[in-house]
Amino acid sequence: MRVDVGVKTLAALTLSIAAFVTAISAATAQSGSPNVVRRQQDMKAMADAAKSINAMFKGMSPYDSKLFKAAAETIRSQSGTALSALFEGSVTATGSKASSNIETERQQFDKLAKDLGAFAAALSVAADRNPDKIGPGMRMQAGDPVAGGGPLAKKIDVARDATSMSAEHAFHLMLQTCTSCHAKFRVESK
Ligand code: HEC
Repeated sequence: MRVDVGVKTLAALTLSIAAFVTAISAATAQSGSPNVVRRQQDMKAMADAAKSINAMFKGMSPYDSKLFKAAAETIRSQSGTALSALFEGSVTATGSKASSNIETERQQFDKLAKDLGAFAAALSVAADRNPDKIGPGMRMQAGDPVAGGGPLAKKIDVARDATSMSAEHAFHLMLQTCTSCHAKFRVESK
């Protein structure tokens, strides 16, 4: 931008900034409460998807690789930046259980949202590789990385490791990701 802005251009600039700010406020006002509904709907859809995958792993419903994949994709598509975007700006609102520390600990929130997507993507790939039945490669294995503490626990790099562990293990770690995020970023009752 030129430094020697004339009085006329300066006035025009001030006007356009004012218009810009008004546009932003209008957008925020519109996306205020509908976002809460939307994110709660997405969360419920993810819960249903996780239940259907769990039922297939447990043998409570027959394995269907297409349904398994669709459920994994439901979670994948609503994770990562799509999830984070629904908690942008001022996070707390009436009817929402989102905790205000999402705003201050944004990086950790975004990381959990991203990890969720990596695990869901791994499940989606597993469904492609196992079209007919839950193959032995999908089941928990001795070589699966151990999550959490303990001296023998390998530190998991989710982006790198999600596809190399068994699908069942990825599923358990995915559920832990849901739980971790809720423990940290969702208030119990309001
Ligand atoms: C990155 C953080 C994060 C992750 C990961 C996450 N959630 Fe949530 N979840 C939240 C927050 C925050 C709320 C509260 C939203 C609100 O009320 O505005 C919530 C709310 C919910 C709700 C209640 C929705 C309602 O109707 O009020 C369910 C069910 C849910 N999550 C399921 C899941 C499942 C299942 C997973 C994993 C597959 C998951 N969530 C992963 C942060 C997360």
